[in-house]
Amino acid sequence: MPENMSIHHLISRTARPLRGTITVPGDKSISHRALIMGALAVGQSRISGLLEGEDVLNTARAMSAMGADISRAENGDWLVHGVGVGGLCAPQGVLDMGNSGTGARLILGLVSTYPMRTVFTGDSSLTSRPMKRVTIPLEKFGAEFHGADGMTLPLAVSGILDPVPVDYEVPVPSAQVKSAILLAALNTPGETTVTERTPTRDHTERLFRHFGVPMEITIQDSTTIITVTGQPELVARDMAVPADPSSAAFPVVAALITPGSDVTIENIGLNPARTGLYHTLKDMGADISFLNERLECGEPVADIRVRYSALTGINVPEARAASMIDEYPVLAVAAAFATGKTVMRGIGELRVKESDRIAAMVAGLRACGVAVLEHDDGMTITGGPQVTGGAMIKTRLDHRIAMSFLTLGMATVTPVTIDDGRVIETSFPGFGALMNGLGADIGDIS
Ligand code: S3P
Repeated sequence: MPENMSIHHLISRTARPLRGTITVPGDKSISHRALIMGALAVGQSRISGLLEGEDVLNTARAMSAMGADISRAENGDWLVHGVGVGGLCAPQGVLDMGNSGTGARLILGLVSTYPMRTVFTGDSSLTSRPMKRVTIPLEKFGAEFHGADGMTLPLAVSGILDPVPVDYEVPVPSAQVKSAILLAALNTPGETTVTERTPTRDHTERLFRHFGVPMEITIQDSTTIITVTGQPELVARDMAVPADPSSAAFPVVAALITPGSDVTIENIGLNPARTGLYHTLKDMGADISFLNERLECGEPVADIRVRYSALTGINVPEARAASMIDEYPVLAVAAAFATGKTVMRGIGELRVKESDRIAAMVAGLRACGVAVLEHDDGMTITGGPQVTGGAMIKTRLDHRIAMSFLTLGMATVTPVTIDDGRVIETSFPGFGALMNGLGADIGDIS
């Protein structure tokens, strides 16, 4: 999203009961990885259901700049002609990853083990996010990074001709860090091992398996050890991207808080490392059912039916944090309408997402009349069935903050306004229209 596009205020007024069946866009995490893997395989991979949000389009541009041939077919599928592992070429110019931490960190990993210089930048949100968490392990392969002291973007990477395999334990629960190392391992001879103490989303591993990358995974208690043998020859494979459970979270919570609602959302990816929100909402009393459960391209998928429910506050188990890390903003919206206290701790990582999401939710909810206690590593919300609303929310270049407050406004006494809706394009193009089709009332104000 170009930051010079004009500011776009949006208002969310009280919704009618939300009713209908919808499909939300493709999974963002899987879409990035599908493009990258297609670009590393020889031949043409066809991707259906790809998210056409700005974050993913930036990854497509980056992979094209390094030699992959990527195009959109007439039926909406994406076609990727890959160059093979080891076949990427140095891009002309800077790779601008826009708002996307996933795109930036994954591709930083990928290029580290290619003998070329690559420069990365991003918008004002991305350039303030920590990159040391990936540069530290990637330096162990032999890559060098040149940037500002704190290792934030813009960063220049001098990749290495003869990378050495690495054995690394990821110190923070992060699928981006794990995936950066796994992608660096692909062009590294020998065996690279990544250990994670807390399970995080495993889409990279599932796609590696789909493409036949030699890999061993052992799981003991909650520790996962992944060993990849580098420099495989990958052959093109078709991929079907399920709908994004993190995007589905908005209509799910909207239906739960808007009286009279009954909504079905189709084809949602339900990878167990992503479903924490749904378990938590059920613990709060939500009427949610999973229909038509199936497996597609190695990922579990189902339709979700959700009906308006009287919610009760709970203590959200900290052990669930990694499996719902992107859903805390919208969970906070559900908590505002839940009777009693909802305690969310162990989520300090939220402070280094597209914005400081704890600070953004605390400020926005308080402005809407909700009682919130801020902790270093989380927040406690005391909710109830009536929420005042009426505030203008600062979205801080953060799509999930923007959509969370538009969701809140569907059930508040007074409408909620956000200061900038453009950033929603990064992950959920068409959000307003889709919600309005169900009965919401989201519109522009000039
Ligand atoms: C993602 C991992 C998570 C998540 C992000 C997507 C991924 O980030 O918040 O939206 O696709 O690997 P961290 O790895 O920083 O936890």
